Amino acid sequence: MCGIVGYIGAQEAQPILLTGLKRLEYRGYDSSGIALISPKKNSIGIRKAPGKISALEKLVKNKPLSGVVGIAHTRWATHGAPTQANAHPHHDCAGQIAVVHNGIIENYEALKIQLIKEGHIFRSQTDTEVIVHLIEKFYKNIPLEEAVSMALKLLVGSFAIGVISTNEPNKLVGARLGSPLIIGVGKGENFLASDVPAVLGFTKEVVFLDENEIVVLDKDHFKISNLEGKTVFKATTHISWDIDQAEKSGFDHFMLKEINEQPEILENLINSRIHKKTGKIFFQEQNIPETKLQDIKNIFIVACGTAYHAGIVAKYALESLCQVPAQIDVSSEFRYRDLLIGPETLVIAISQSGETADTLAGVREAKRRGCSVISICNVLGSTLTRESDGVIYIHAGPEIGVASTKAYTAQLTALYLFAFYLAQIKGVLSSARINKLLTQLRKVPQYQTEILKEQKRIAVLARKHSHLGSFLYLGRNVNYPSALEGALKLKEISYIPAEGYAAGEMKHGPIALIDEYRAVVCIAPVSKVYEKMVSNIQEIRSRKGKIIAIATAGDQEIKELTREVIYIPKIEEIFSPLLVVLPLQLMAYHIAVKRGCDVDQPRNLAKSVTVE
Ligand code: AGP
Repeated sequence: MCGIVGYIGAQEAQPILLTGLKRLEYRGYDSSGIALISPKKNSIGIRKAPGKISALEKLVKNKPLSGVVGIAHTRWATHGAPTQANAHPHHDCAGQIAVVHNGIIENYEALKIQLIKEGHIFRSQTDTEVIVHLIEKFYKNIPLEEAVSMALKLLVGSFAIGVISTNEPNKLVGARLGSPLIIGVGKGENFLASDVPAVLGFTKEVVFLDENEIVVLDKDHFKISNLEGKTVFKATTHISWDIDQAEKSGFDHFMLKEINEQPEILENLINSRIHKKTGKIFFQEQNIPETKLQDIKNIFIVACGTAYHAGIVAKYALESLCQVPAQIDVSSEFRYRDLLIGPETLVIAISQSGETADTLAGVREAKRRGCSVISICNVLGSTLTRESDGVIYIHAGPEIGVASTKAYTAQLTALYLFAFYLAQIKGVLSSARINKLLTQLRKVPQYQTEILKEQKRIAVLARKHSHLGSFLYLGRNVNYPSALEGALKLKEISYIPAEGYAAGEMKHGPIALIDEYRAVVCIAPVSKVYEKMVSNIQEIRSRKGKIIAIATAGDQEIKELTREVIYIPKIEEIFSPLLVVLPLQLMAYHIAVKRGCDVDQPRNLAKSVTVE
C-alpha cells in the first residue's frame, strides 16, 4: 500500500517528511519521493528514487531541499514499474503543482488520452499523473482546493491524495475517497498522512477523514469540507498507541490486521473488475487475446502452499462454470513431471509474491512447451508477472504476515472473476447467470464483516483447544481445499501437527486417528455434500473426537452433533471458501498467540521462498 506524508509549519519539512515515510515502511513499497515548495525560488523541488527510502535519503543528502511545506510518498506500484519516473510526487506541466496519491484510478487511460490531446505532457506510466494534470487544467483563478475537487469528481476508483502548489505556498490540500487519510494536528504545524504512525512522533492528536472529504491545511488551521464544498466539522482524536501498535492499526499482529482487511480488499477488487456501464468483467493487464482463450482446451494450475489451495478452489470453479478440464499440481512437482501440455493449454500460475522459485520454474517449463500463461499475483512487476503472457493483479496491498490470509481470499476472488470472464468469452454462461453469480460474490465482503464481528467468540473457542496435540481438518468439494488451508494456517504459526483431508477419505485411514485427544474441524456449510459431512461428523462423534464445526447460520441439525459451532452466513456453495476460511484463519491465529508463537514471523519460514 502506498504511503502519504504532508507537512506545513515553521520547521524545515524535509527531515520531518522522511521520518514520516520511514514510519510507513511497514506498508511495503518499491520507490519513494519528496516535494517541497522552495520559498526563495517560488518553485517546487522534487527528489525521487526507486528502492528503499535510504536511496532517497542519499539523494537529498547530495541535493537537499529546503522549505516548510511539502509532501512525500512511498509507492507500492500498481500501474507502471517501480522506476524513478513512476515514483511520486508527480507535477504538472508548469512544475507549479505536485501530487502524491494512494489508490487506483480505474479510468485513468481515457483521462490521460484527453489530457494529452489538450497538450498536457506526461512523464510516467502511472495512473496518478492524470490527477495533477486535471488539477492544472482547472486551477485558473480559483482556490487550489476547488481545482482539486473538480478534478476528483472526474475520477473513478479509490484514492487518497496530497497536493501543494507554488501559487498558494501556505496551503496543503488533502482528499480521501476509498483510501485512508488523516490529519495530524500540531502546534504551529499540521500534517497529512495515510496512517497514524507517520505523525505519531510529532503529535498524538489526529483527525480521520471520511469518504469524499477534502481538507485545506495551513500551519495553524485545518478546514474539512465535502466535494460539494459543504464544511464538515470534526473533533480530534487522541492516539494512545505507541508506534509499533500504530503500524498494525492497533491490532496486536500484522496477521490479525490483514485478516480484518479482507472485506475492504475484496470489495475494491470486485468493483475494479466490473465495468461500471456494461457490467462486463474486464482485466486490464490480461493480455492474452480473447480468441486464444476461446480455443483453450484445458487448464493447468500451478502454485505452492496457500496459493495452491486457492488453485484447487479455482479448479472446481473453472470446471463447473467454464466446462473446461482443469488440472492442478504443486509447482515443485509440476516442474519435473512429463507434462502433457502444449499450445492448447492455459497455465494459471498463482503466487502472492511472484518470486516463488518452484512456480517460476514451472512457468518457464510451460512456456517452453508453448502454453499461454496467466499469473494471479499481488506484487506488481515481480518476476512471475514479467514472464507471464497475462497478469491478474489481486491488489491486496503488501502482506506482511508470513501466513497468507488476505492474499488467499483475494486470489480466490480474482480466480472466480476470471472463471466468469472465461465463461463469458467462451459463451458457456449466460449474462443472466453471470450476473446472478456476481450478485452473490458482491455479498461476500459484507458476509465476511459479519463473521469478523464474532472474533471474540472464535478466540475463546480457539484458546479452549490450544492445548491439543494435533488437529484434523475435513472438508468436501470446494471446501476440501479449505480443509487444507485451515491445516496449513494452524501448523505454520502454532507448530501443532495439523492435516487437511477430503472428508470422504476418512474411512481410508485417518479415522484411525480419531480419539478424545484430537480436535477435528469439520467444514459443513449448506451444500450438495452436507449430508455426507454430517455422516462423517457422526463417525467422529462415535469415536469421541472433539468436533469443531463450521456451519451455515440457522443450521439446527449441526447443534445436535457438537456444541462447538462457528456459523457463516448462507451463500452459494461455490463461494463458501471465501467465508469458511475466516474462522480457520482466526482459530489458527488465536491458538498460536495462546501458545506464545511468533505469529507474524514463524520459525523456519520466509514470506517468499525464492530458492528451490
Ligand atoms: C502460506 O501461508 C505460506 N506463507 C506459504 O505456503 C505460501 O503460500 C507459499 O510459499 C507460496 O507463496 P507465493 O504465493 O508467494 O508463491
